[in-house]
Amino acid sequence: MTRVFAGSLRKDHVGQTVTLNGWVQKRRDFGELIFIDLRDRGGICQVVVDRERGASADVVAAAKELRGEFVVRIEGEVFERADAQKNAKLPTGDVEVVAKVVTILNRADTPPFAIEDDTDAAEELRLQYRYLDLRRPSLAGNLVLRSKMLTATRNYFDGLGFIEVETPILTKSTPEGARDYLVPSRVHKGEFYALPQSPQIFKQLCMVAGLERYFQIARCFRDEDLRRDRQPEFTQIDVECSFIDEEFIYALMEGLFEKIFPLAGIAVTTPFPRMTWQEAMDRFGIDRPDTRFGMELVDITDAAKTTSFEPFKAAATVRAIVVPGGASFSRKRIDELTEDAKKLGASGLVWIKFDAQRGSSIKKFLDDAAFDALRAALHANENDLALVVAGKQTVVWDVLANLRLRVARDEKLIPDDRWDFLWVTDFPLYEWDDESQRFFARHHPFTSPRPEHLELLDSDPGAVLARAYDVVLNGIELGGGSIRINQPDVQQRMFQALGISAEDAQARFGFLIDAFRYGAPPHGGIALGVDRLAMLMSRSESLRDVIAFPKTARAQDLMCAAPSDVDAKQLDELGIALKR
Ligand code: AMO
Repeated sequence: MTRVFAGSLRKDHVGQTVTLNGWVQKRRDFGELIFIDLRDRGGICQVVVDRERGASADVVAAAKELRGEFVVRIEGEVFERADAQKNAKLPTGDVEVVAKVVTILNRADTPPFAIEDDTDAAEELRLQYRYLDLRRPSLAGNLVLRSKMLTATRNYFDGLGFIEVETPILTKSTPEGARDYLVPSRVHKGEFYALPQSPQIFKQLCMVAGLERYFQIARCFRDEDLRRDRQPEFTQIDVECSFIDEEFIYALMEGLFEKIFPLAGIAVTTPFPRMTWQEAMDRFGIDRPDTRFGMELVDITDAAKTTSFEPFKAAATVRAIVVPGGASFSRKRIDELTEDAKKLGASGLVWIKFDAQRGSSIKKFLDDAAFDALRAALHANENDLALVVAGKQTVVWDVLANLRLRVARDEKLIPDDRWDFLWVTDFPLYEWDDESQRFFARHHPFTSPRPEHLELLDSDPGAVLARAYDVVLNGIELGGGSIRINQPDVQQRMFQALGISAEDAQARFGFLIDAFRYGAPPHGGIALGVDRLAMLMSRSESLRDVIAFPKTARAQDLMCAAPSDVDAKQLDELGIALKR
């Protein structure tokens, strides 16, 4: 039953008789000698149909009929190519298959774009004909890697006594912070199921049920603004365990990464470094820092007060990044960075060049003493450039974190052969929202506060730290989780602090609070984004490169044209009238 793929043929196969099934990539016809590039999901191999090497007239005739994307079966023998004919660009380039039998299994129309790994066809067209796009060996290879990763994951958890439990897809809203996808009920008109944003509540109920070690390769649905690393439906490796602590989860997940990353030829060193949320924010301005390069944020609030620049004196905080050698940046480039900073909410971007001209956007407010004070505070070298933002701390962090990444990418400061894993710990439990003037749960409302911070829940919610952790790789959040609340009264207080009334909490999560009254074990868990893992492991640019049938940035499936209208009859059955 072992399948030999065209793309896997190598010198070791020389002398073997093989049967290859695949698609015609290209045919070159020299009369009685025809070359076929045969493609299957493993890659491309050259097939030779040659009267002088034993092909019958019928076989040559069949080969002459072949066109691009015809489906074909080739039976033949593997030969080593003569040295001059070897093709170093193809993994199969040392060999060729000399065909004895050529069978046309199906014909094909000319495809709307050339099916090649180095394609320049528009992504929209490729998504519309995704089944053709997936014929490209690089894309198929990503799916193979993803499949191997998930198999290894299942084996890993199975070996440790975890059981995979499937939780419902038609369910009730779970509070992960995004909008829900809703499904109308026909039987209960006017009522709706929600698709799960994650299996969070169910996995906790599995713990109350005594299953103790749960995992699931779980599909999740979130109606949120999409980005390069977000899809409306995505997959998680979802984990929950009882009678454990943070250290158990760290070791468990590090063990998993040690199993799966080598599948992509990536070595993983454990244990991963750890950083508190506060340190991550202070040094990088972001809770998922990319630690592969420097340019860390520097707090210059005090030194900035030595200038006569009023906004520096008035600001809650003044921070900067120092771009090595950045004094050579043109005015245009700095203007672009300033535009970026403003878009992110900064009132402006101050720049200082540490070169002979001592150029700066606030030159007239900088006497020599202030210039030297800033230079000392920034530890800047000759020819460096400082980009400085003053203002509210959250804005300053956000703006500088973004500038740091943008400059590092533009300047090619990020090594692409490093795999910097990091645990970020000690998150604040709540996040203040200026717009609605209230606290939100930073992770979700089931995250346990640190026991010693319980008394602050009501008096100083902003100071409460959570037993939550994220795992970050090269600046991308791979996963997050926490030790959970398992006391009904604490859970109630948590809802209260979030402004969810007792009645509202009962209506939305009453079943969970009830469950906690019947002996909920201490428990906690984590969820990893499968798509993000596969994207990083396959060194892809976008989640779309590792999802067989992905959605566009506008949440559409271009192949089957979803979402789409439905019949009036279907709507009627659901008791729904559309507001146009
Ligand atoms: P969280 O919301 O942090 O946690 O999600 C966990 C991980 O899922 C991935 N992820 C996504 N991937 C692709 N597209 C998206 N739209 C998307 N949203 C999230 C990320 C993220 O780190 N129930 C909790 C976990 C827990 O507490 O155990 C949860 O879902 O990689």
